[in-house]
Amino acid sequence: MGVWQVAGFTACKTARKPPLSVCGEIAMNFVEESHRKTLEFLGVGNIECALDATLGLGRDALFAAGLLAPGGALYGFDVQQEAVNKSLDLLRKAGFAGGNAGGHIEINFFNASHADMKDFIPQSRVGKIGVVFFNLGWMPGSDKSVKTLPLGTLKALEVSLDLIGCCRCALSVLSYTGHPGGNDEFAVVSDFFTRRVGKFELIRDNSNPKSPALFWAGLNG
Ligand SMILES: C[S@@+](CC[C@H](N)C(=O)[O-])C[C@H]1O[C@@H](n2cnc3c(N)ncnc32)[C@H](O)[C@@H]1O
Repeated sequence: MGVWQVAGFTACKTARKPPLSVCGEIAMNFVEESHRKTLEFLGVGNIECALDATLGLGRDALFAAGLLAPGGALYGFDVQQEAVNKSLDLLRKAGFAGGNAGGHIEINFFNASHADMKDFIPQSRVGKIGVVFFNLGWMPGSDKSVKTLPLGTLKALEVSLDLIGCCRCALSVLSYTGHPGGNDEFAVVSDFFTRRVGKFELIRDNSNPKSPALFWAGLNG
């Protein structure tokens, strides 16, 4: 295992396993690190709204659901209906959802691009989003040609900042460089965090040029 680089603050000592580097596989140690940092920053039950911009198998959405205050709202987006269905199913099995309006939280998942998510989130929720997850690339075990693209990702990141407003919010973006186009997307995300976020952490395995990269920021804290 190589050196974990954390730009900005302290070194990351908590990642336990070497990273999986192939885009499309869930790099679970990066996901775990994203969740760990988010939980540490937000605690449980302190946020009203959560947003998963890339639902996939629903694991980030499930984690986000567990952070919400009772009666909170979870928003999720994916361009594949299969991802929406799988995510809803996961939440249902975990006891969160009886459907799009069930359970003790409000669940709103859309088969739509995250680039358009502003059209789906009511004005009353703007400025109340306490966590935003992006896990880029394609859905594990699915069609690898359906994947996030740099321009759409950039637009969605910009929209996220509008939705967050002045809310205390964790913004987590997991980017994969080990596939065609992955480096371009990484560059776009890196530029966005540098220009628009400013203070953030970048966690990756320096010994592996194809290492996933986790961009994480605690905003308005
Ligand atoms: C790596 S997976 C996400 C993993 C997921 N967060 C989880 O916990 O299982 C990436 C997902 O992004 C979706 N995706 C690709 N382009 C998208 C877009 N423009 N808007 C929203 N989702 C998109 C893919 O369909 C895929 O399901």
